[in-house]
Amino acid sequence: KKERTLAMIKPDAVCKLGDILQMIYDANLIVTKAKMTKLTREAADFYTEHQTKSFFNNLVQFMTSGPVVAMELLGDEAVSVWRRILGPTDSSTARKEASLSLRAQFGTDGTRNAGHGSDSLASAARELEFFFPSTAGQGPANTA
Ligand code: CMP
Repeated sequence: KKERTLAMIKPDAVCKLGDILQMIYDANLIVTKAKMTKLTREAADFYTEHQTKSFFNNLVQFMTSGPVVAMELLGDEAVSVWRRILGPTDSSTARKEASLSLRAQFGTDGTRNAGHGSDSLASAARELEFFFPSTAGQGPANTA
């Protein structure tokens, strides 16, 4: 089933964007939208479900430490395929696995973990709307 998901390259892995795009293409996913942006207060909104967690402040500090690249990915089972590419949330756990996932290669630990992927179709819809609001125009005239 064709799905759309939100992939986000976190500040620690934006310098590896080329390698990450190659992993996306190798998995037969298509990049249908992309945006580089620096999150400020929005980071807290994006991660609002985690606001009571002990790691929340670290997470927001990390996510606002530099630009991120948000992408809409399209393809068969895009939600689960992209999460498989990412690997386990904690990069040190990811490095113990046989397959060389994105987080195993480019992440550091449980917070600095190189990338994010929507965990369900419902999250994907919400997170895509966050980065690519459907009310905003798509054309260059709206980007000033
Ligand atoms: P992400 O997939 O973006 O979703 C929530 C993020 O919170 C997660 O990746 C990590 O960056 C961070 N995170 C999740 N669990 C922990 C944890 N136990 N300790 C520190 N950071 C975490």
